[in-house]
Amino acid sequence: MEITLRSPLDMHLHLRDAEMMKLVTPLTAETFSGAVIMPNLVPPVTTLEMLHAYKERILESKGEHQFDPYMVMFFKDYTEKELVAAKDHMIGMKLYPAGATTNSEAGVAQIDSVEHVFKMMEEMEIPLMVHGETHGFVMDREAEFMSIYEHLATKFPKLQITMEHITTAKAVGMLDRFENLKATVTLQHLIITLDDVAGGFLKPHLFCKPIAKRPEDREALLQAALQAHPRLMFGSDSAPHPISKKECCGCAAGVFTAPLAIARLAQLFDEHGCLENLQAFISDNAQKLYGVKPESKLVTVSKESFEVPTSYDGHGHKVVPMHAGETLDWKVTGVKC
Ligand code: NCD
Ligand code: ZN
Repeated sequence: MEITLRSPLDMHLHLRDAEMMKLVTPLTAETFSGAVIMPNLVPPVTTLEMLHAYKERILESKGEHQFDPYMVMFFKDYTEKELVAAKDHMIGMKLYPAGATTNSEAGVAQIDSVEHVFKMMEEMEIPLMVHGETHGFVMDREAEFMSIYEHLATKFPKLQITMEHITTAKAVGMLDRFENLKATVTLQHLIITLDDVAGGFLKPHLFCKPIAKRPEDREALLQAALQAHPRLMFGSDSAPHPISKKECCGCAAGVFTAPLAIARLAQLFDEHGCLENLQAFISDNAQKLYGVKPESKLVTVSKESFEVPTSYDGHGHKVVPMHAGETLDWKVTGVKC
């Protein structure tokens, strides 16, 4: 059995920079036609110069693969002039509450203090991507953020808002309440719950932000993905960290899934008899929601064993993927541009 996917897109991806970028970029570029590149570098991508330079470095590191990086600016209190200049060079702006996750220290401390920027973005049709977590109790952070999404979606009805990497049934419910809300969901949040992270031996390679939640949350996310909810898109949030930052005291948040995401998604959709909906979830929905037209890339995935490497090594780095050393039932067997 096999399926051929047309131009898979990863709508939320961390490629990092320098040597790590050189290791991980080809691992996405091989099988994805394009990806939305998160701007949480150190320092974050906040100027057009930084954006162009970062894009150039990504294009240099992608190898021979056909791959479009959709660039994102790190949200801050920009002037109208800065927004006008940046608009055509990016797919959107990513807002991080200050301190909510990896490299977000330069994020927004008070969301209500930047509403004038949302207003301008609404008028200019610049999409807003949001890391939707408060600073509350770790399991409640996303749920507590729903009132902020509700406020923004109501006050700025034309502003296109993406709830990034949603992890709760509440967030899925928001998609049906507000037309201007869309969302990305990761692979791991369709598969794991908090139990897999911390219910037995602690699994640092499954630790990410937002943290995986309860079985009923996973179920709601999974059903929405399997049915290819028209405002839900695949965004891996593949977030590589060097092994020394994961297997240590003070583990960094981030799960690395890029090289196995397509195979594992095919397995998941097949297990639930929904393979026919994978195309919409992994590309078509995003194309419609963002108006992107990726170049043609036909990716064939077959029901064949695929041994996930125990680590991906190179350029002085070693990164451990999800499902390291395990055997998946599906495998990418062909890519045609
Ligand atoms: C991401 C990272 O490492 O940059 N980590 C994560 O756990 N998801 C940041 C993010 O998307 O929150
Ligand atoms: Zn992320």
